[in-house]
Amino acid sequence: MHREPLAERLANEIRSRGPISASAFIGAALYDPAEGFYVRAGATGRAGRRGDFLTAPEVGPLFGAVLANALDTWWIDAGEPDDWVVREVGAGPGTLARSIIAAAPACLERRALRLELVELSDAQRSMHPVDGAIESFSASPAGRCDVVLANELLDNLPFDIAQRSVEGWREVLVDIRGAAFVEHLGGIVDIDLGVDAEPGIQLPLHRAAGEWIRANRSASCRLLAFDYAAPIDVLAERDGGWLRTFREHGAGTHWLDQPGSQDITTDLAVEQIVAAADGLLMTSQAQYLRVHGIEALVREGREIWEAGAPAGGLAALKGRSRVREAETLLDPDGMGAFTVFEWAPAARST
Ligand SMILES: C[S@@+](CC[C@H](N)C(=O)[O-])C[C@H]1O[C@@H](n2cnc3c(N)ncnc32)[C@H](O)[C@@H]1O
Repeated sequence: MHREPLAERLANEIRSRGPISASAFIGAALYDPAEGFYVRAGATGRAGRRGDFLTAPEVGPLFGAVLANALDTWWIDAGEPDDWVVREVGAGPGTLARSIIAAAPACLERRALRLELVELSDAQRSMHPVDGAIESFSASPAGRCDVVLANELLDNLPFDIAQRSVEGWREVLVDIRGAAFVEHLGGIVDIDLGVDAEPGIQLPLHRAAGEWIRANRSASCRLLAFDYAAPIDVLAERDGGWLRTFREHGAGTHWLDQPGSQDITTDLAVEQIVAAADGLLMTSQAQYLRVHGIEALVREGREIWEAGAPAGGLAALKGRSRVREAETLLDPDGMGAFTVFEWAPAARST
């Protein structure tokens, strides 16, 4: 079946129905079934050293090893149930799951752990590891679960944009002029941004992220999201720099250019995530990884390296690699400063 290119489809929609929301444009640019940056097969929309951006699981197996520790802690606290369901949403190619399995946590060894990987992109889902403990889904399954994890998902959920004008904060819509997509100011926004700013300043509106949090928040399940975030007044000072585009490990171009050709992400405005659901605990990624044992894992890696270095070999190299990975994951000017949003369960349902 012939299908018009994504840019033409969006342009025609705007011509016939008027300007569309930023989230509708970004949703199509990232997740259009035929041309979305994350959805089309091939090199686009991939995390990893050979992909478009580097995330904590892709730095190496250490991030997953620390999370495996955390999963064991919560599993033990819950009374070592026979069935321990951990759902990772936005799992990309499944790298975090690979590292968790490789770390061999007790909940896995005791055959309690079931890892549900939810990834909407077929191309990425096809890269998921094949393992008895892992099941892949294109959308979250209906069953109960004990932990929901999301690494760098919320920043990639389609967001809207508000712009300060003399009358207040107005919605930034997407219009078409000639063949180019352009920003167009719509009505007053329905969210109290809780900050004042000069006319012209833009800020993100995380409506879809808020909905996702509310849909995944439940009294019996721990919800955990790792992402880059900052208070709204800090974002207001970034003069639009909270919106970033990426392509092949470099900066992309304007977010309205060539939909489908680049990643479009936002720094999260902390206040909007806090407002999404009650019971949130927040900490830096560095602090969270320390609480769950990263330093002991690095010490162990260093000992393995020092003991095995003369002979070389994979175990020794892996040990040394932990030291380097920890430097990246804990970097106070980089991933270490990311935010961990955690909503703890009230009780485990049986
Ligand atoms: C930035 S990537 C992060 C991948 C991986 N978590 C990591 O840290 O390397 C975001 C991923 O979320 C996926 N995604 C976005 N919205 C989703 C949704 N509603 N359900 C499942 N996956 C989604 C995208 O296709 C993409 O693979």
